[in-house]
Amino acid sequence: MPARILDGKAVAARIREQLRERVEARQAAGRRPPGLAVVLVGEHPASSVYVRMKRRDCAQVGFDSQAHDLPEQTSQAELLALIDRLNAAPETHGILVQLPLPRHIDAQAVIERIDPAKDVDGFHPANVGRLTLRLPGLRSCTPHGVMTLLRETGEPLEGRNAVVLGQSNIVGRPMALELLNARCTVTICHSRTRDLAAEVGRADVLVAAVGRPEFVPGEWIREGSTVIDVGINRRDDGSLVGDVDYPTAAERAAWITPVPGGVGPMTRATLLENTLAAAEALDA
Ligand code: GUN
Repeated sequence: MPARILDGKAVAARIREQLRERVEARQAAGRRPPGLAVVLVGEHPASSVYVRMKRRDCAQVGFDSQAHDLPEQTSQAELLALIDRLNAAPETHGILVQLPLPRHIDAQAVIERIDPAKDVDGFHPANVGRLTLRLPGLRSCTPHGVMTLLRETGEPLEGRNAVVLGQSNIVGRPMALELLNARCTVTICHSRTRDLAAEVGRADVLVAAVGRPEFVPGEWIREGSTVIDVGINRRDDGSLVGDVDYPTAAERAAWITPVPGGVGPMTRATLLENTLAAAEALDA
């Protein structure tokens, strides 16, 4: 039986609708809208597209979207000074610095300058540490959004074998922690993993985040599993594909996310959720 589709686009639309209602309730109570500062340095083409979508999402749910588009030559000191101002600004509840940054800027120093209470990306070591220790905090958007999507299947996660492909700070590592916190048995695979096919074959839940087009063939996929494809890769013909070979994987999986329209919209919806949560905590 072909897989059922985990429709991230539809779930994200539902989340935005709920957020819009909560923002209206805030406003009716005389409180300011959640403010999200989105900082873009330079003109990385994919980043420009992502940032535009994030700002449009903000407008749609009634957030105050604060654009900071800086030239490529911006110095690290200038960027850190902007972060300091945003940390101190009461109308700014969330700060997102779009990655990657130009090579002359130390991204980690920038991430660590953001007030953890405004770190809506969940990248600050304080927030990653809180996730590791199962303490409440701002959680990284893509893994957190994947957990929301996994709950949509209605299938329990406890005790299931979860396999994460990729060990990045943005997705792989926090994803593994999220799945562990949901009481999965978690395996993280990376470029030195010896028998990837065998590891993937044991996955009740597979999260692919390697950034290589159609890297996982359908024949590796465990029958009846849930396949979450975080990859967004552009092929030579301009089309977008994930890290998993969708047509063959969909013949074996029980649930699968499409690319586009799966994880991507959930990442953006979770950013909005984090921004509202930050606003509620900061204005309390
Ligand atoms: N670049 C790619 N993904 C992300 C993300 O989730 N947050 C930020 N800030 N930059 C990114």
